[in-house]
Amino acid sequence: MPNDSSSVSGHGQTVCVTGAGGFIASWIVKLLLERGYIVRGTLRNPDDPKNAHLRELEGAQDRLTLRKADLLDFKSLKEAINGCDGVFHTASPMTDDPEQMMEPAVNGTKNLIVAAAEAKVKRVVFTSSIGTVYMNPTRSPDVVVDESCWSNLEYCKNTKNWYCYGKTVAEQTAWEEAKEKGVDLVVVNPVLVVGPLLQPTVNASIMHILKYLTGSAKTYANAVNAYVHVRDVALAHILVYETPSASGRYLCGESVLHRGDVVEILAKFFPEYPIPTKCSDEVKPRVKPYNLQVDNPEATRLGRGVHSSETVPI
Ligand SMILES: NC(=O)c1ccc[n+]([C@@H]2O[C@H](COP(=O)([O-])OP(=O)(O)OC[C@H]3O[C@@H](n4cnc5c(N)ncnc54)[C@H](OP(=O)(O)O)[C@@H]3O)[C@@H](O)[C@H]2O)c1
Repeated sequence: MPNDSSSVSGHGQTVCVTGAGGFIASWIVKLLLERGYIVRGTLRNPDDPKNAHLRELEGAQDRLTLRKADLLDFKSLKEAINGCDGVFHTASPMTDDPEQMMEPAVNGTKNLIVAAAEAKVKRVVFTSSIGTVYMNPTRSPDVVVDESCWSNLEYCKNTKNWYCYGKTVAEQTAWEEAKEKGVDLVVVNPVLVVGPLLQPTVNASIMHILKYLTGSAKTYANAVNAYVHVRDVALAHILVYETPSASGRYLCGESVLHRGDVVEILAKFFPEYPIPTKCSDEVKPRVKPYNLQVDNPEATRLGRGVHSSETVPI
């Protein structure tokens, strides 16, 4: 099975990528074009200059079309998906505002699966999140976080983490709807995604790093996150699409770092930037990284975690 983006495995196949202008979706579109796919990208506004980068991608002139579609407009989704072999559903709000988050994430995903079922696509790959996996205060620190874990909805709600709440309900909806409609669904759950931007705008996960470079964050949090390179995430989506035996959820991560480690790495590479050196919480003990399982046989087989060949060090 190919594990790089240089082959033309997609030759003759048409696939749809929702929210094509976003950070991760732009990379998915780029790698799909490199592999010879014919790509339909959906955008809420194809004429917005922020999406112009898509037309500059190699192969875009011949094999990329951009369609106007909103997740809450079923007809627009249906038109974009009709005639496609597969769908990558990556579009989603990324916000903790429940009003902006819930409807597009949940009903939008439901619309997508119904449209994919009606169009009889071969497979839907849904971009979920680590946020649907690890938000569970009752999990003991030594438990390995893997694809069998689910976030606790009550906990997400009580902590007002509407992004994780919305993504969890959206993924659950995707599974239920796919089962009911007979859609072949595979889910990728990336951790926090970083790496080069193809798009001209800054997305939420890039802000996570940028705030330490611009001086807007004067301290760093006593917190841990798992990180992964955007190219690996895009490749994971394509590999689960191309591998007939792929099924279920695929956690896509590379390393788990305390924020103190992140600022140290940044300071090493960018000493001229105003990177914080103080933790905002000097009272509580340093939060310990959790165990993230990225080296199960399926992950290795799919080429996921391209830079990682072992369970993430804790
Ligand atoms: N970045 C991360 O660290 C990370 C980690 C795990 C999972 N994810 C998931 O990965 C996906 C993409 O994230 P990203 O970082 O690439 O974010 P992004 O750059 O903000 O892209 C999100 C895309 O979703 C589109 N969208 C939002 N609401 C929509 C709606 N109602 N109808 C149609 N399109 C809509 C946006 O379109 P507009 O341009 O029109 O707003 C945008 O293109 C999301 O599903 C996110 O939950 C991201």
